[in-house]
Amino acid sequence: MLTIVFAAVVAAAPPPPPKSFEALVDAPVHFEGRWMIPLPKKLPRRALRYQTSPLNRGEVLKLPWVHQPGKTDSGQRMPWGVLLGEMLFHAPRMIGALNVRMGVSCHHCHPNGATNPEVFTEHSYMVPGRIDLSTSYFSEQGDDGILDAHVVPTLRGIRYTAPYQVDGRVASLREQTRRVIVGEFNTPEPPPYLIDALVMFLEQLDPLPNPNLGPNNLLTDRAGADAKRGERAFFEPRAKLGGRSCASCHIPEDGFTDGRRHPLGSQREPYDTPTLLGLLNTPPYFHDARAPTIEAAVAEVDRLFGLKLSAKEITDLVAYLKAIGAEEDPWEPDSWAVRAEVPLTFLDLTQEGPYVDDPIVWKLTLETITFELTGLGLPNERDESLKRAWDSWTALAEGARARGPNPDDRQRLAKARAELRRALKEAEAPKAKPGPSQGTVTRSSLPSGR
Ligand code: HEC
Ligand code: HEC
Repeated sequence: MLTIVFAAVVAAAPPPPPKSFEALVDAPVHFEGRWMIPLPKKLPRRALRYQTSPLNRGEVLKLPWVHQPGKTDSGQRMPWGVLLGEMLFHAPRMIGALNVRMGVSCHHCHPNGATNPEVFTEHSYMVPGRIDLSTSYFSEQGDDGILDAHVVPTLRGIRYTAPYQVDGRVASLREQTRRVIVGEFNTPEPPPYLIDALVMFLEQLDPLPNPNLGPNNLLTDRAGADAKRGERAFFEPRAKLGGRSCASCHIPEDGFTDGRRHPLGSQREPYDTPTLLGLLNTPPYFHDARAPTIEAAVAEVDRLFGLKLSAKEITDLVAYLKAIGAEEDPWEPDSWAVRAEVPLTFLDLTQEGPYVDDPIVWKLTLETITFELTGLGLPNERDESLKRAWDSWTALAEGARARGPNPDDRQRLAKARAELRRALKEAEAPKAKPGPSQGTVTRSSLPSGR
């Protein structure tokens, strides 16, 4: 009797999680069709180092090719390692089978490397912009039983903002990246070159240009008089700060951080000094999201250090933070063709370059492209030619994924992509149709506690 009951329990149990990364890539897991973490309605602009940095404007940054030591990129295209890293950043399978089902990738919490201010779960006490990664939401074995929801930090300029994690416990970006995948999300250990590629991509993420900032990140004349007064207040030594100023910790020329951990005034635990670049678009503030606005953040700094700032100083500091935290042209255009271009470019990885014959890259790439395009709200039933292009893409990509790298599929995929590009452009061309349909995060759109 006892054995029968035992057998029934075993039969009902879910399949064990894949033991190796290769097994995970091959495991038949399907996206359930509902994005558990919808992207924000306005998608932050994609900003890679060689596109935006004034230092690199004009010439494309030359990085070594992964796998081919000594060779440099031709300068014409995105380096292969960076392209692979960006694909992996969008690939739910990189963070385990559960996230494939829920449709969650790095990009969903850190869209284009910025932050998704709308993400939350019940474990965040429903505070938007804040999330506890070590819960059963994101990994079946990952619940640490501690409720410590943290804001999603921006990854723009991440190469300047070591150490990592809000409490600054992790020294290197590579270690942090591996830790997110293997530690937070309990994914089987990926081959090292995949982590290298993700790191290469993360290192390209740039803060957006800000015309209010000049050399050494001092305000330009474009900033208003109140912001200029705020800048002086920011540099002013204060007794309550032990004779130091805001700028001693948020060092302007170092990206507004000192790369160190401090308890703020009456706080007990030390936290990593965050950059203030892009501040306008990264609410809520502080590691635990306690301040929803810049005004509230300044009031909180004032309270924690017991500074007793005057009302005037507070308004000036707020004006200053808004000026240094501004970003030029922060959102992507609301267009299918533009948004689809990022995932469609991933297909290059299967066409030429160092990864063409790599089965892991092949499989992840094809799945990720389909997944990303699904998120754009394709197919559009009203558009026959787009629907045809989409249907032939999905059928081909699924078959080719199972078959692994081969020259016939390689050619067919290139044709199917060209067809999709054409149909997308046409579908948008006559009059601007509504862009990607994005859900908002509501309690019911999130998974209930498991
Ligand atoms: C479900 C949302 C979510 C997903 C998915 C996610 N992250 Fe994060 N990420 C966070 C949160 C929240 C933090 C802050 C954690 C902390 O400090 O405790 C964070 C922190 C980081 C940091 C450290 C940033 C800093 O300045 O300290 C890096 C780097 C990072 N994530 C990269 C990634 C990569 C790469 C992936 C995909 C492999 C990923 N994240 C997936 C939410 C997410
Ligand atoms: C001793 C170093 C130090 C000083 C001095 C300091 N800060 Fe900070 N600041 C930090 C740290 C560390 C945090 C993160 C605290 C946390 O997450 O709980 C922070 C957080 C902030 C934030 C929130 C940023 C975000 O993205 O969450 C703002 C805004 C800010 N500080 C402004 C100021 C202003 C204005 C002053 C001067 C009145 C100041 N700080 C003085 C270290 C400092």
